Amino acid sequence: MTELASEAMEAEFDTVAGWTEEAVRALGPETAIPAGCRGSGSEGALRWLADRLELRPGSRVLDSGAGVGGPAAWLAAERGVRPVCAEPMVAAVRASRRMFGLRSVVALGQQLPFADGSFDAAECLGVLDTMPDKAGALGELRRVLVDGARLGLLVFVADGPLTSPAPDGNEFPSEAETRELLAAAGFEVIDTAEADLSDSPEEWTRAADAVDAEVARRHGGDPAFRQAEENSGRVGRLLADGALRPWLAVAVAV
Ligand SMILES: C[S@@+](CC[C@H](N)C(=O)[O-])C[C@H]1O[C@@H](n2cnc3c(N)ncnc32)[C@H](O)[C@@H]1O
Repeated sequence: MTELASEAMEAEFDTVAGWTEEAVRALGPETAIPAGCRGSGSEGALRWLADRLELRPGSRVLDSGAGVGGPAAWLAAERGVRPVCAEPMVAAVRASRRMFGLRSVVALGQQLPFADGSFDAAECLGVLDTMPDKAGALGELRRVLVDGARLGLLVFVADGPLTSPAPDGNEFPSEAETRELLAAAGFEVIDTAEADLSDSPEEWTRAADAVDAEVARRHGGDPAFRQAEENSGRVGRLLADGALRPWLAVAVAV
């Protein structure tokens, strides 16, 4: 996809995205949203953000770094908004179109192909950690939002040294750095919370686990599978150690 992605990131966010779509097709459409949200949030985290984004039916909402589109599809189903996804990995964009019928474009968060003030709200979930140019991505989010619009973020923050290796290609900011970056881009943080990543209904977790198992059954022997597992496992270890925290924030475009 882009010159910015490492091989491990391509495995995790591109190759596995295509495999996820394939597994969802095999297991049934009810598995699509849980599997599509596996990349970052829990249902509880998505709801916490949605409750604070001042959404109305028909609101134009951008999801930047949307992955396979699970969070955007959830938002459309729950709140009646019109989401648009931007995501650099081609297989993920294809999956979001096929699994959810979402409007999705292949784009880096630092080069969004939208006019100024095109959106009433935006989300960016688990994405800032995966890129070096966080200021560029936040600047673009501010540019495409109307004044007064809200941005919902999930950021994996590291306030001290990491206790084990970071996933390839990831650079975790501290909470203070993230707040500074948001202010510099023209956002005022109005609410924050610690995300509980296990806060999803039981059937949601069961469906996501079933899709994971199907992907492993079909592709477990593939080096890209092992690479993706290693990368996501590193995040899991850092979270378990407390070296990383899943930080939710809502900010207003000022
Ligand atoms: C942990 S996943 C989260 C996906 C999705 N937001 C979710 O919550 O399910 C991180 C996503 O950020 C995307 N990403 C990586 N670099 C990016 C960049 N420069 N601009 C936009 N998205 C990027 C990856 O391709 C991947 O889909």
